[in-house]
Amino acid sequence: MDLSITIAGVRFPSCVMNASGALCVTHEELLALGRSRAGAIVTKSMTIEPRDGNPTPRYYGFPGGSINSMGLPNLGYRAYAALIPELKTFGKPVIASVAGLCEDDFQIIATVINAAKPDLIEVNLSCPNIPGKPQIGYDTEASERLLKRVRKVITVPMGVKLPPYFDPAHHSAMGSVIGRCGVDFLNLINSVGNGLVVDPEHEVVVIKPKGGFGGLGGASIKPVALANVRAFWKIFEGRMPIIGTGGVVSGVDAFEHLLCGATAVQIGTVLVEEGVNVFDRLETELVAQLSKKGYASLEECRGKLKEL
Ligand code: SIN
Repeated sequence: MDLSITIAGVRFPSCVMNASGALCVTHEELLALGRSRAGAIVTKSMTIEPRDGNPTPRYYGFPGGSINSMGLPNLGYRAYAALIPELKTFGKPVIASVAGLCEDDFQIIATVINAAKPDLIEVNLSCPNIPGKPQIGYDTEASERLLKRVRKVITVPMGVKLPPYFDPAHHSAMGSVIGRCGVDFLNLINSVGNGLVVDPEHEVVVIKPKGGFGGLGGASIKPVALANVRAFWKIFEGRMPIIGTGGVVSGVDAFEHLLCGATAVQIGTVLVEEGVNVFDRLETELVAQLSKKGYASLEECRGKLKEL
């Protein structure tokens, strides 16, 4: 079965790809994604200066998920801009993920990265792990101001990676902002920010930064991710392409995201745990699930979740 998709006019050979953050920081990691069955190469969210990130340990996997507080370790935007031409030779889209420590950073990075011609740019409004920097996506006014600024300099399709929202009022408020800012696609969701995992045996937190607080990912956040995909799918009446991220560890999980309205899915925790061969497994499982349910294409099941 054909798992290729199109988002904002850009064709992807597969609907399964890495989430920004997972095995996509270094040159070698990005090349490995290029050689893999991933449907795109998504870069780590980049800042102006290279960053080592937060102190370690900063990632911890547990049954059912993970907690991380990486703190945006990345090579800096100049390095990613220089790598884009090589990454594009793999014949799959390159998505440059843009972050920043202040609004001006986003605009500077977006301008230079856009000139390097990635296929798409994803603006990350949702990193929960920089001490003292709240997630921009929880501030609708700041989000709108920032998105309008970067939209002026971005000429490739522009997506936005949002944090999870937990109330319809917040889905609606952010949906209105997105609708006013010329956004071409959404990525839902970033990790569930500021969770806390406790080791009861040693009576201690499991990661060092921020007193142990970090972003939750993996299987346990799937219901939150699905709810956000579904809510924004409804707000935009199926016309906004959505990449579903959160809790995809099997082909059936990917299928559930598609039913809720996702066009594609991204993986983080399971990619870290299994490495790039996971794309083969997930694509095989997704094809098996679609066939089992009698769907002949991805389009046939997109958004088709039934309600009681
Ligand atoms: C991190 O680097 O801390 C995670 C990035 C993100 O959640 O956007």
